[in-house]
Amino acid sequence: MMQGNSRSVSSNQQGIHENLQKVVRRHLQQPFQKPYQQHTLEAFLNLEKQLAAADRPLILDSCCGTGLSTAALAQLHPEALVVGLDKSAHRLTKHQAHFDQAGQNYILLQVDLNDFWRLACEAGWQPSHHYLLYPNPWPKSRHLQRRWHGSAVFPYLLKLGGQLELRSNWQTYLDEFQMALQLAGYSSQILPYQTETPMTAFERKYQNSGQGLWQLRSQLSA
Ligand SMILES: C[S@@+](CC[C@H](N)C(=O)[O-])C[C@H]1O[C@@H](n2cnc3c(N)ncnc32)[C@H](O)[C@@H]1O
Repeated sequence: MMQGNSRSVSSNQQGIHENLQKVVRRHLQQPFQKPYQQHTLEAFLNLEKQLAAADRPLILDSCCGTGLSTAALAQLHPEALVVGLDKSAHRLTKHQAHFDQAGQNYILLQVDLNDFWRLACEAGWQPSHHYLLYPNPWPKSRHLQRRWHGSAVFPYLLKLGGQLELRSNWQTYLDEFQMALQLAGYSSQILPYQTETPMTAFERKYQNSGQGLWQLRSQLSA
C-alpha cells in the first residue's frame, strides 16, 4: 500500500550529464588538496585509536543520517566494527535519543566525508564493506560536482576499497556513478532494489511513496 507522499526526483538533466567524463577524468588526475577541517580531523584521530583497540574488520556506512542502517549493519556483521558517518549533528542526535549504543559494535561520528575519506586513505584503511545509502542526489544539472562521483573526493572513495553498495531513488545517479567507476577501471552492477524491511529512514519513505529504488554494487578492492 502506498502511504507516503515523497516526490520522486525531478531533474533538468536528460540522462547522464554531458560533462561527467571530463569532470571525473580531471579529478582522477589531480590530488584534492583542500585543508582538513579541525572537527573531522579530531573525530578521525579518535576513531583511529578505537579501531586499533578493537582489532576487527571495518565497515563504513557513509551518509548514515540518523544511523538506522548503521545499527542494522552492526547486527548483520557482528564480527565487524561498523562506523556510521554523517555531517549532520541534528540527524545523529536523533539516533542517540532512540538507541542504546553501549556494548554495541558500532559507532556514529559527525564528520565531513570530503575530509574523512581522504584521511582514511592516507592512513591506509581498508574497509571490508562500504555502504552509501541514498546520498543527496543533487539533481540540478549545475550541481554535478556535488554528487559524489562528480566530486574531487571521488578517487579517494575508490582507493578506500571494499565491497561498495550504493542505493538511490534516482537511476541517473547510479548510471553516472557506474560510468565514473568505469573511467577509473572498476566494473559494477545496477539492479532494481526492493525490501520488506527498509534499512534507512529515506528508504522507508521512498518505498512507502511507491518510488523505484536502485542498487549499485562494485568490488573496489585491488
Ligand atoms: C538523503 S540523506 C540519507 C540519509 C540516510 N542514509 C538515509 O537513507 O536515511 C543524505 C545524508 O548525507 C549527509 N551528507 C551530505 N553531505 C555530506 C558530507 N559532505 N559529509 C557527511 N555527510 C554528508 C547528510 O547530512 C544526510 O544525512
